[in-house]
Amino acid sequence: MDFRKTIRERRSIRRFHPSPVDQELVFTLLREARQLYSSGETAAFRCVYAGTADSRERLAACMLEPLIKNRLVKWLPEKVRDFVRKRVTDIPGHLAVIAATGPDRRESDMNYAAVCGIMQNFQLLSWQRRLGALWDTEPMMQSKELFHLLKMSPEERLVGIFHLGYFDKIPKARARTRAEKKWTVLSGGEGPVE
Ligand SMILES: Cc1cc2nc3c(=O)[nH]c(=O)nc-3n(C[C@H](O)[C@H](O)[C@H](O)COP(=O)(O)O)c2cc1C
Repeated sequence: MDFRKTIRERRSIRRFHPSPVDQELVFTLLREARQLYSSGETAAFRCVYAGTADSRERLAACMLEPLIKNRLVKWLPEKVRDFVRKRVTDIPGHLAVIAATGPDRRESDMNYAAVCGIMQNFQLLSWQRRLGALWDTEPMMQSKELFHLLKMSPEERLVGIFHLGYFDKIPKARARTRAEKKWTVLSGGEGPVE
C-alpha cells in the first residue's frame, strides 16, 4: 500500500453523500487507527458516535446553542439557524473524540498529541475506504450543552468531531507551504540562519 499517495491525496470532505455510514466500519477504522499508532494502546480517549437521525438532531441542537445565545446572531433569521442545523443533520455520521487529561500539562499534552495521531490515522484509513471526513474544531463545539450531551467530565477535552460520509467529488487541494519555509538551521553561535 502506498501510504505517501494516501497522505498526499486525502482531502477534507465537506459535501457528503446521504448514504449511511455503517457504525461497525467506523469502529473497525478506529481500532485499526489505534493499533497503527505507536503508543495507541496507552492513549486515553473515548468516542461518541452519532449516526441516527435522532442523535444527529440532538447534536445539531447542542452545536446551535451558542449561536442562539449569541446576542449578535439572535436577530438572524430562522433560515440561518435552519441552515446550520440541516448542515449537521444531513451528514450521515459524527464521531466525537474525547481525550483524557493527565495530572499535569506534560501528560495531558502527550495524551492529546497521541489522540491527534490516532485521529490522523483514522482519516487516512477512512480515505482508503472512500469514506470522507472533516475534522471539526470550530469554537461553537465548545458549548456547555454539547459537553453535557457527550457526558464530559472536567478531566476530559473534546479533541474534535469527525463529520463522516461518502462523497462524489474530491475537492481540490489547498496550496501547501513548502517545508523549506518552515525551516531554519541552528548554527554554531550565530543564531538561527534564515
Ligand atoms: C486539527 C484540525 C482541526 C481542523 N478543524 C477544522 C474546523 O474546525 N473547521 C474546518 O472547516 N476544517 C477543519 N479542519 C480541516 C482543515 O481545514 C483542512 O485540513 C484544510 O482545509 C486542508 O484541507 P485537506 O485536509 O483537504 O488537505 C481541521 C483539520 C485539522 C487537522
